[in-house]
This record gives sequence, structure tokens and C-alpha cells, in this order.
Amino acid sequence: MTTLDQAVVVDKAAGSDVVLQTTGLTVEVSTEHGWVEVVDGVDLTVRRNETVGLVGESGSGKTLTSLAVMGLLPENARISRGDVRLSGRTISGLSEKALSDIRGVQAAMIFQEPRRCLNPAFTVGDQVAESLRRHRGWSRKQAKARVIELFELVEIPDAARRIDQYPHEFSGGMCQRVMLAMALACDPELLIADEPTTALDVTVQRQVLELIRRLQGELGLGVLLITHDLSVVAEMCDRVTVMYAGQVVESAEVDPLFYTPKNPYTSALLQSMLEPSGRGEPLGYIPGSVPPPHLFPSSCRFQERCTHAVESVCGRAVNLETVSAAHLTRCARAADLALPGVSA
Ligand SMILES: Nc1ncnc2c1ncn2[C@@H]1O[C@H](COP(=O)(O)OP(=O)(O)OP(=O)(O)O)[C@@H](O)[C@H]1O
Ligand SMILES: [Mg+2]
Repeated sequence: MTTLDQAVVVDKAAGSDVVLQTTGLTVEVSTEHGWVEVVDGVDLTVRRNETVGLVGESGSGKTLTSLAVMGLLPENARISRGDVRLSGRTISGLSEKALSDIRGVQAAMIFQEPRRCLNPAFTVGDQVAESLRRHRGWSRKQAKARVIELFELVEIPDAARRIDQYPHEFSGGMCQRVMLAMALACDPELLIADEPTTALDVTVQRQVLELIRRLQGELGLGVLLITHDLSVVAEMCDRVTVMYAGQVVESAEVDPLFYTPKNPYTSALLQSMLEPSGRGEPLGYIPGSVPPPHLFPSSCRFQERCTHAVESVCGRAVNLETVSAAHLTRCARAADLALPGVSA
């Protein structure tokens, strides 16, 4: 059974619970080397009431995957193959107007640097109200009352006063709360959070993650949480998809993926999370780096950095295969290897 077939079966089984489904999502960008595929055949499913982690090193294609889902790709990027469905409705071929009607209402996204997403010239309250006025056609007064409720929901103290302040009067953590209020204004079913806490200090990071977790549970949201940080995945997520060089390399529920990873890349990420990094090496160090997209090999893309690689087996393209229920890996040697994960 191909991964595409599996995705369809999952969709049918889950019925209307599926808020996001990508099938074979492929994104290419225009570069000096011509059009280059940077995201290759990504299958993702997020249901209501669950948090799915999307992890991988820098440059693995996480942000472009999520921007494609939101119909927010940069001008030099396009979906070249595959399908994106939000709450069962395909977004392919929709006009910009239809997409912007869906954004915020079915799916909303928050980003790494909240301050950059806020307009310094308008009060934070007006910026959150804007979405309600546009999507719901509410009056200024109706929108204001709802914005105060939303600020209380995201735990911004003294909400009625703070809606009239400007972004520069808010800390980074408070700006991310404003972005969350904006994202949740029109009751979306899916929230995509792209490294939502990376730019915040550790204590504030924890508070914002706690808040996302509480909101996910209370509102029954489907959350796609993009992060470099596997400890965040362990705490927040039900399932996790690992990307490497534009492809999904492993996908499973959190426990099987952490305790019995079936892909050498995931295992290496887990080991680098557990081991103190060597002198002068960045945390989470795996020797080598993700190749640039125009140099992605036709063999296993991790082969060059993989300590388990055997040329005769790994030197050809590898498909994503099922190893056990809901556990998929892209590794030609998966059946032969007992890879270390975290210990129980
Ligand atoms: N607009 C663009 N034009 C050309 N190449 C791009 C563009 N945006 C991203 N890329 C390239 O596409 C690849 C995937 O980028 P993407 O931003 O999705 O990675 P990421 O996994 O989100 O990384 P990070 O963890 O650093 O945020 C990278 O090689 C990146 O350099
Ligand atoms: Mg990114």
C-alpha cells in the first residue's frame, strides 16, 4: 500500500475529525539553478483534539510545508504536486480571495517572531479586531468586546486597558499572546505554530507552550507544532513527523518514535538531544549538514551522514514504508537495525 493510499484510509476512518490533510505535497522554488523541489511528497494528517509535531534540522522544509498549507508561499515558490485539504476542502486552485476567506476561519498560523507580524502603527486591539470585522462583518463595538474576551483567553492581564496599547508596549511573550488571540479570533479548527517560542527566553517559552496546550485542549483544536526541539515534542505532541531534506523520513506516535525510532536520522536527533554536545559543537549536533535542495541526491538523502549506510542498499531512492501500525519510516535498512532511542 502506498503512503498515499494509507493517507486516504486514515482520512476515511477519521471522517470529519481530520482538519488538515496533505497528500504528496510537493513545493518547488525558483532559484539560480532553476525550479528546485524543496518539499517532496509530504503526507501529513492532523485531527481535531491532537497536536502533531513537525521536526527536522534547519532547511528540512518545515516552514515551506506550513506556508503551502496556508496558501502563503512566497512569490518564487509554488505547489507543483499533491493536495492540501483543510477540514476536507481542497485549497488547490482557489483564488487569493477564497484563500483569505479560509485563513483565520479554518486555519490560522503563528510565527517565530511575533513582533514582526504586528503593525507598529496600530493598537494591538485594532489589529485583532480587524480579522473579526473582515471575516464576520462585526461592528467596531462588537469586535472590541470579543477582543477583550480573547485577550483574557490568552491570559493577557488587564485586557480592557491593554487592547489600546501599541506593540512596542508589549514584551515578546505578550506579543506572542496577541498573535494567538488574533489566530483564534474566528474559531479556527487548525492552528499551525511555526517555532512559536524560539525567540523567547526559557521561562516565557514554557508559559507560551503551556498556554498553547491549554487552548488546544479547551477549544479542541488540531495543532501542527513546528519545532527544532524534541523535548518540546515529548511534552506537547501526540504524534510526530520528522522531515529531512524536504521529505518525511519518519512518522509515528510520540512514544514509539522516542523509544523505538525506526530511522537513523531520528535516532541521531534523539541521541544528540540526550548527549552533551562536544566542545565547540552546537547543541544537537549531527556531523555534516542538510544538502542544499539543488543537490539532493537520488539515493537516500541522509546516506552521506548516516553511520548505518551501506552503499549497495542505501544508494537508491527509498520510499516511506509502514513498519508497524501508524509508524512509517523511510530507511532501506529499517528491518535490520535496532536503533537507540531514549530509554524508558
Ligand atoms: N523563498 C525561497 N526561495 C528559495 N529557497 C527557499 C525559499 N524559502 C526557503 N527556501 C529553501 O527551502 C529549504 C526549506 O526551507 P524551510 O524554510 O522550509 O526550512 P525549515 O525546515 O523551516 O528550516 P528552519 O528550521 O531553519 O526554519 C531551504 O533549503 C531553504 O533555503
Ligand atoms: Mg522554518
